[in-house]
Amino acid sequence: MRILVTGGCGFIGSALVRRLVGDGHRVLNLDCLTYAGLPENVAAVAASPHYSFVRADICDTSAVSATLSDFAPDAVMHLAAESHVDRSIDGPAAFIRTNVGGTGSMLEAALAHWRTLPEDARAGFRFLHVSTDEVYGSLGEDGFFTEGDAYRPNSPYAASKAGSDHLVRAFGETYGLPVLITNCGNNYGPYQFPEKLIPVMIMNALAGKPLPVYGDGANVRDWIHVDDHVTALIRVLEAGRPGETYLVGARGERRNLDLVKTICSEMDRVEGARFAPHEKLITFVADRPGHDHRYAIDPTKVENELGWKPAIPFADGIAQTIRWYLDNRDWIDAVHDRRRLGEGGG
Ligand SMILES: NC(=O)c1ccc[n+]([C@@H]2O[C@H](COP(=O)([O-])OP(=O)(O)OC[C@H]3O[C@@H](n4cnc5c(N)ncnc54)[C@H](O)[C@@H]3O)[C@@H](O)[C@H]2O)c1
Repeated sequence: MRILVTGGCGFIGSALVRRLVGDGHRVLNLDCLTYAGLPENVAAVAASPHYSFVRADICDTSAVSATLSDFAPDAVMHLAAESHVDRSIDGPAAFIRTNVGGTGSMLEAALAHWRTLPEDARAGFRFLHVSTDEVYGSLGEDGFFTEGDAYRPNSPYAASKAGSDHLVRAFGETYGLPVLITNCGNNYGPYQFPEKLIPVMIMNALAGKPLPVYGDGANVRDWIHVDDHVTALIRVLEAGRPGETYLVGARGERRNLDLVKTICSEMDRVEGARFAPHEKLITFVADRPGHDHRYAIDPTKVENELGWKPAIPFADGIAQTIRWYLDNRDWIDAVHDRRRLGEGGG
């Protein structure tokens, strides 16, 4: 297939791009390279004749339209977004602009392109929007998010993603654009930008710095390895029913404090005595405002309808992720250097 991926230099987008190119698809990666967009993340496929890159902002409808008509994709997989909850609390405007406005712009351009296609190509075209379980708000101690739940976003990030989900759904209902939506839990794995929870903990543990845990650490997140998420996205693209939403999760619920303790014991094992036991570095810090208590996904629909199942047990995935950060100090240095130089804004 010819697939236009937006946000392909980010954490999940780059894992998707690497997989799609490896599987023999033609991929065009459209990314404006914010602070979170790193060309290094796609270095492994950059020289492939199946890969191309356009630096453009998804809010720039004419640039997106031109890219769509030049590349003529069979599908758009839309991942470009502002994605960090803490940044959305400090500055919601960029989230509203990119996540709501940018998704609107992508949809307008995709609709215009789709309308130019012959009938059989129109029927086969897909616009897959990659979203988050955070649109559903917070759970108590019991229960799971399912596809029919009402949206109750609590952070500006979650609200902006909720807005983008509604726009995607509306373009499906109003214009018949063949859209798909996936809502996934917290991803972890290699190449995650080092301001998110797991890379922060690994890198601080490595340096013997405090491991900051919000509140009492009792908040629960539902973790999935990025490669399992990528497999689910491809499965939904291939076999999902247009107009449908699929919740993607690996039944990977963990309290933040337990997750950090797991990282500490793995660091004790692989890094040895220098800062061991790493658990003594854990430091409780003031809670995030409006911090959702618990997320947990019921993935029955994507499992039963599309036959997707996660393949990476958490213990293996986290050990492999820690190993990756230990083995890829060049990548970490490149990220830090660029941030110090102020390249890419953010
Ligand atoms: N990380 C998670 O745990 C998670 C979970 C569920 C859903 N999601 C969703 O998956 C998608 C990807 O998440 P991620 O963690 O890889 O994000 P990320 O922050 O690592 O990457 C985002 C990418 O989008 C690009 N981008 C941002 N604004 C842009 C714009 N205006 N125009 C063009 N490109 C732009 C950035 O340069 C970057 O390459 C997002 O839509 C996010 O909401 C993430």
